[in-house]
Amino acid sequence: YVIGVDLGTSAVKILLVNKNGEVVQEVSKSYPLIQEKTGYSEQRPQDWVDQTVEGLSEIMQQFEGDREAIEGVSFSGQMHGLVLLNQQQEVLRPAILWNDTRTTEQCETIKDVIGEQRLLAITKNPALEGFTLPKLLWVKEHEPEIFAEATSFVLPKDYVRYKLTGKLHMEFSDAAGTLLLDVGEKKWSTEICEALNINPNICPPLVESSTEVGTISEDFAKVTGLSTETRVFAGGADNACGAIGSGILTEGRTLCSIGTSGVVLSYEASEEKDFGGNVHYFNHGAPGAYYTMGVTLAAGDSLTWFKDTFAKEESFEDLLADIGEVPIGSNGLLFTPYLVGERTPHADATIRSSFIGMSRSHERRDFVRAVLEGITFSLNESIQIFRENGKNIDTIVSIGGGAKNEEWLQMQADIFDAKIVRLATEQGPGMGAAMLAAFGCGWFDSLEACADAFLKEDQTYLPKKENVESYKKLFPIYQEVYTHTKQLNE
Ligand code: XUL
Repeated sequence: YVIGVDLGTSAVKILLVNKNGEVVQEVSKSYPLIQEKTGYSEQRPQDWVDQTVEGLSEIMQQFEGDREAIEGVSFSGQMHGLVLLNQQQEVLRPAILWNDTRTTEQCETIKDVIGEQRLLAITKNPALEGFTLPKLLWVKEHEPEIFAEATSFVLPKDYVRYKLTGKLHMEFSDAAGTLLLDVGEKKWSTEICEALNINPNICPPLVESSTEVGTISEDFAKVTGLSTETRVFAGGADNACGAIGSGILTEGRTLCSIGTSGVVLSYEASEEKDFGGNVHYFNHGAPGAYYTMGVTLAAGDSLTWFKDTFAKEESFEDLLADIGEVPIGSNGLLFTPYLVGERTPHADATIRSSFIGMSRSHERRDFVRAVLEGITFSLNESIQIFRENGKNIDTIVSIGGGAKNEEWLQMQADIFDAKIVRLATEQGPGMGAAMLAAFGCGWFDSLEACADAFLKEDQTYLPKKENVESYKKLFPIYQEVYTHTKQLNE
């Protein structure tokens, strides 16, 4: 067996997977998001550790086999979050997360000091609020006494893995989202560190996603029931693991993943292409590979917000039950999912959402469909960038919340004008993490071979010509809303 731990934004999801790729046990444990001020988004690293311990203990209590039969553990994690540690590897302040947007000024500083083109040449990405470097600069400026004590920084899952093993590392797929990594050369950029007065020693040692970094420490084995012989592999960023867990391991494969955030992600064999920074360009968890990606900050989160605000007592299934009865275009209602700003294509932390076109006759289900259409339009903007840059996107694997509803899957096919594939037992990033452990343990010669054995396609959804045409008329109107509403929050 192997275990995949997916440290998400709302919960940690743990999968126990056998040699056939079947999930034999699964647990999920949630933790709170701390939002003290508008634009702030933090979590307590101790909460991640406590809930991971809790989840692993539950798995082990129910596990009937010999604990040594669990050969490996690996991780997937929410990206970009800053965890600052002192000399004793103690956490210095709550982690500042990927969807925290307080760092607009620091992004400007990075652009001024490094230069936009130089930054792009080194990191393949522009300075965006969500990335880690602006968060480091924010702490340096606003909490200098805390920054002075920091001797290293890591990303969320790296901290949890450190607690499991006592060994501190970062791996390339997550390091790529810090804005401190030379993405092509796969080494920390001393040029960026020095230009911004950051001691390069705070960057931890780098490893590959499938590198074995240690085994379970005695203390951790005691509290979870895991064996001290279980091998621990570095793991990857949640989007890299989502890609692995959906078989996005060769050129031409594209993923649409809707969780709290939503991403459209496409495999790249090398770092050589140039998208001008309009989509993210990160190291993959597969050795030597890369991926490009567009991000919608509040994708599933827009739907969660709607449910929490207007239908708290209902399940998502109930909420979505009758969206099929609402015609395309939600009876003239349009939603933009900018509740916490937007990443791709606008890179604008201050823009906010709109409902446009409300009428006296609209019902709640029109609003629900409009929310789904708005999220999907936003993801389509990333697909448009890929296509404009010559990528052929005709088949997309859909995972996460967006793959749980048939109407939404058909909507993706119609808005993206591409065939949508749903996997048989889709487990997303957690499965990708388990696959990294399986590959690391030597069960397979490559991640592709593991994907062939573990992943099966289920249903496909083909674009319907008439629907595609209707959405093609609505999409430019959706795109215009940004231009006309961005002044509202300036
Ligand atoms: C990617 C990003 C999000 C987080 C969510 O750049 O910010 O998708 O990884 O966990």
